[in-house]
Amino acid sequence: MVKAYPTVNEDYLKAVDKAKRKLRGLIAEKNCAPLMLRLAWHSAGTFDVATKTGGPFGTMKNPAEQAHGANAGLEIAIRLLEPIKEQFPILSYADFYQLAGVVAVEVTGGPDVPFHPGRQDKPEPPPEGRLPDATQGSDHLRQVFSTQMGLSDQDIVALSGGHTLGRCHKDRSGFEGAWTSNPLIFDNSYFKKAFCSYQVTKPSSLIHPSAHLLTNTQRTRTLSLLTTPRPT
Ligand code: HEM
Repeated sequence: MVKAYPTVNEDYLKAVDKAKRKLRGLIAEKNCAPLMLRLAWHSAGTFDVATKTGGPFGTMKNPAEQAHGANAGLEIAIRLLEPIKEQFPILSYADFYQLAGVVAVEVTGGPDVPFHPGRQDKPEPPPEGRLPDATQGSDHLRQVFSTQMGLSDQDIVALSGGHTLGRCHKDRSGFEGAWTSNPLIFDNSYFKKAFCSYQVTKPSSLIHPSAHLLTNTQRTRTLSLLTTPRPT
């Protein structure tokens, strides 16, 4: 199926390019790529395919959505981005937050993610509770990613690789520590670690003990998703 993307005018495209350059500078200077990727994902991850509500439509700008438990810490990203956003009133917040995620992947050495502008801002945040809960298992992940968002098991596994960047903060999620040894480099070390630690029975000394607990949780989910036959 060929996807139809919205069209935007020349001025809009020029603003996207300029904003991209400024975002590269900000993200490199502040080392905030992980937070920007999490912002883009938490904006998108509220999408509900059945009702076509939620999703990456700029509602994270609203303090009410920033106050959702799963979004702790994202107000920092919003605050860092605002001075650049103010320079580009033509851009929607919806596009701008997604662009920040795309640039975060680029700046840390990840693949070029095609960016399709044209999202329009929505006035109301989605209800709380649509993002995945790190304390639950693969049934919950399927509920969120497959039933709610309309994605596949492969999508879940691939997207979880976003944890090649960044770390957990005790005061935001209750967890602590990074998944990989270099949380500012986008590579496949998250998956390598997940699968290596599956093959050893004791925690790797390379992994901070508390981070290892989280890696275990993520690893179990990834593996159970990979090894569980998909419903037909
Ligand atoms: C599979 C379901 C997921 C769960 C349960 C989950 C859970 C978490 C948790 C608990 C944190 C720690 C937040 C903190 O304490 O600062 C985190 C951080 C992060 N997540 Fe996820 N996540 C999921 C999926 C994703 C996806 C799909 C992406 C992007 C493609 C992503 C990108 C990130 C990034 C980059 C960070 C690091 C943020 C930072 O360093 O400030 N996550 N995630």
